[in-house]
Amino acid sequence: MKNHSPLRLAVCFVTAAAMLTHIPVAPAAEVVNPRCEYLADPLGIDATKPRLSWVIEEKDQAPNSRGLAQSAYQILVASTPELLAKDQGDLWDSGKVASDRSAQIEYAGKPLASRQQCYWKVCVLTDSPAAKAKPVWSKPAKWEMGLLMPDDWKAKWIEGTGYPEKPLHYLRKSFNLAKPVAKARLFATALGLYEMDINGGRVGDIIFAPEWTDYAKRVRYQVYDVTSMLAKGDNVLAGLVGPGWYCGHIGLGGFKHYGKVPALLAQLEVTYTDGSTEQIVSNASWKTTGSPILSSDFMKGESYDARLESKDWNLAGTDDSAWQSANVRDEKPCALESQVTDPVRKICEIPAKAITDPKPGCWTFDLGQNMVGFVRLKVTAPVGTKLTLRHAEVLNPDGTLYTKNLRSATSVDTYICKGGGVEIYQPHFTFHGFRYVELTGTPAKPALDAVTGVVVASDTRVTGHFACSDPRINQLYSNIVWGQRGNYLSIPTDCPQRDERLGWMGDAQVFVHTATYNSDVAAFFSKWLVDVDDAQRDGAFTDVTPGTGCGAGTPAWGDAGVICPMTIYQVYGDTRLLAAHYPAMVKWIEWCRVHSTGLIRNKDRGGDYGDWLSIGANTPKDLIGTAYFAWSTHLVAQAAKTLGKSEDAAKYDRLYQEIKDAFNKEYVAADGRIKGNTQCCYIMALKFGLLPEEMRAKAAQWLIDDITAKGDHLSTGFVGVSYLLPVLTRAGKLDTVFKLFLQDTFPSWLFSVKHGATTIWERWDGWTPEKGFQDPGMNSFNHYSLGSCGEWMFSSLAGIDTDGPGFRKLMIRPTPGNGITWVKASYDSVSGQIATSWKTAGDNFSLDATIPPNTTATICIPTKDEASVTESGKPAATATGLKFLRMDQGAAIYRAVSGTYAFTSKR
Ligand code: BGC
Repeated sequence: MKNHSPLRLAVCFVTAAAMLTHIPVAPAAEVVNPRCEYLADPLGIDATKPRLSWVIEEKDQAPNSRGLAQSAYQILVASTPELLAKDQGDLWDSGKVASDRSAQIEYAGKPLASRQQCYWKVCVLTDSPAAKAKPVWSKPAKWEMGLLMPDDWKAKWIEGTGYPEKPLHYLRKSFNLAKPVAKARLFATALGLYEMDINGGRVGDIIFAPEWTDYAKRVRYQVYDVTSMLAKGDNVLAGLVGPGWYCGHIGLGGFKHYGKVPALLAQLEVTYTDGSTEQIVSNASWKTTGSPILSSDFMKGESYDARLESKDWNLAGTDDSAWQSANVRDEKPCALESQVTDPVRKICEIPAKAITDPKPGCWTFDLGQNMVGFVRLKVTAPVGTKLTLRHAEVLNPDGTLYTKNLRSATSVDTYICKGGGVEIYQPHFTFHGFRYVELTGTPAKPALDAVTGVVVASDTRVTGHFACSDPRINQLYSNIVWGQRGNYLSIPTDCPQRDERLGWMGDAQVFVHTATYNSDVAAFFSKWLVDVDDAQRDGAFTDVTPGTGCGAGTPAWGDAGVICPMTIYQVYGDTRLLAAHYPAMVKWIEWCRVHSTGLIRNKDRGGDYGDWLSIGANTPKDLIGTAYFAWSTHLVAQAAKTLGKSEDAAKYDRLYQEIKDAFNKEYVAADGRIKGNTQCCYIMALKFGLLPEEMRAKAAQWLIDDITAKGDHLSTGFVGVSYLLPVLTRAGKLDTVFKLFLQDTFPSWLFSVKHGATTIWERWDGWTPEKGFQDPGMNSFNHYSLGSCGEWMFSSLAGIDTDGPGFRKLMIRPTPGNGITWVKASYDSVSGQIATSWKTAGDNFSLDATIPPNTTATICIPTKDEASVTESGKPAATATGLKFLRMDQGAAIYRAVSGTYAFTSKR
């Protein structure tokens, strides 16, 4: 036991607080959102030193309670809830640690074994200038260790029989439990996808498990608490496996990419009330038979014949003697690792808004929102009626479905009715990207509620909220969020509807920063970045991850292997993740070095994508390659500094300088003009810090000139667009920023909004009044990449940004501009919720800002004159918790402690 027993600590905290009771306003703090490895109460943690995090919230927001901060914490981890309740951390008692850190505190207690249950809480000592030493306990939280040793797995991979005619099988195992059950856990995974039932009830609420990985390298397993589903006596564990990413169709013609037949691995571990244990594992004793699912595939859809249903397939006591024995598969061992990310779940449901029949019997439902998931069908029809559901994002002018842009993804679900009343069906192992659904085969006009959209996505916690005075921008924001929701499905995909749906790296890197504002994607990227490193070849990051045969080493696509981990580090302060990926990041830089000539990335790379989908602006590909080579090198130098690798830091700083020199020599003229003279050239050069100081203004002017010459239009594709507004904002060109942002003629962000988009389109001209639909060979209406302006909407327009890693120090710099009169936004950062709300009226500007406890902020108030700035009605310079620092670029800059502030100023 450490010097500071929890009790003594608590007593000491309380005494300190009691001594200070004369202070009138003691800030009421609460410790909320306790997480282990980014997840709430996770089961199946493989990290042997899991990291714990919490957030401090302040309940009273009185001005004199400003500056609430954590001065110390104590974590207790116990092996039972009872011990924790008695403040006994038998696994770990951190002792009182004087620290303001509240994220990713590494467990440092007794070694943790497989299955260990860990119950924890944290006591936080908060201080503020108004009140000292307030101890606050979090509510108890927990985590449970997974199966850490290969030996822990006794289960065998099993599969059904009769492939390929009967591709989807039921599997079941009957067993008897001799004694009352105290605890039961199901560990399960599949090569393919699985669903498990116990005694007729569905286990868990995951829609697609396991996640998409390179199954030859690692398979993620899930853990479920199934204690309440089992009882003494007869029980049954039953399930289904489907092809999924493993052996169904995946993007660009991939089929049976990882294997031919899906397989299940299941291990049920029961602890009886007397402490003895028993395991029921997948093996040759399992039984199998065909299921009513005739086929199921991500791209093709699902076929289901309800006449083949057997009600009792998943019930105990069912006679399965006619079923066949499951095949045991001799799989090559691969790493079984636990689910470390938010799984794919149902996010919400969308009722149909309207129904039309553009052709007789073709009932077309409009859900009003382009979405990803599937339809739940509710019908009454005679036995044998075959109903067909087709899906599309858009309609032809005659009201029928436009499906050409799905290419070979037929996206058709069929259902054959069993008859006899209302039937409800939703598919099992498929998803579609759609707004419109066509139902055919019904005997009569279906009711509007025959079709409900079930939205599925990786269930990342929503963290961002944004609204402003322009409804078109609010729709744009909604489109960005729906783009992320639809495409963050196990991995970050490019699109959810056509036969592609791949983890395109360029798309991932341009959007990752925006994604971090919209929802908590730390765990999502923690998992996917492992896949990124798994796919790396000889140092070259692949163009898609999981790597499924596409190219590698492509500028701006491969660079995702550096940009994504750095962004996650910046946003969440996750140094462990950075350290884990650092070796792969370095390999990429060295690969780029070898594949350059004089540090200019090779010109003969045929397959580069350039500034993908730009509009009439041809940015030289070697220039993009060299610019990104420089930027990634710079980021690696920064990573090295963070990780204390000073030699590497110096080495890559030097290389960054050398690449910059090569870039300037090769591409930049004395008047600041850059070869290619596209917007993308200038954006990259400015964003990546490639130009000498004296050239920056010149380059910015070339950029402005090009935008003006195009009638205030952008011309950039995926690569340039994510930095367009940030670069112009930093250069102080706010006039141009707002003209571009509020532009609604082609090409612009609001062009698609004007034409009814409910998601971000892949192309600026996916549809135009003049030409109709773009080339169906590549025309998705749900690609998030061009929505990468979301980052600017939060960091600049609303003014919520981090100043250093992990939102410990904040940068609050709202950017008012012509055409928008108010913005209200909030962001649940890893350090707590930040909020801004600003308004303009003529010269008057006002800002309400919330700086969460335990953080400090630099707040920039737009004004020409600091004397005009007030806070809560008084001169800002005199306000509690604020310190005026200087005037800078048309703003008064203050240092602020945590709290809520109400500013006004004259601009
Ligand atoms: C994808 C993109 C991807 C691109 C590579 C397309 O087919 O949909 O989003 O980045 O190929 O240029």
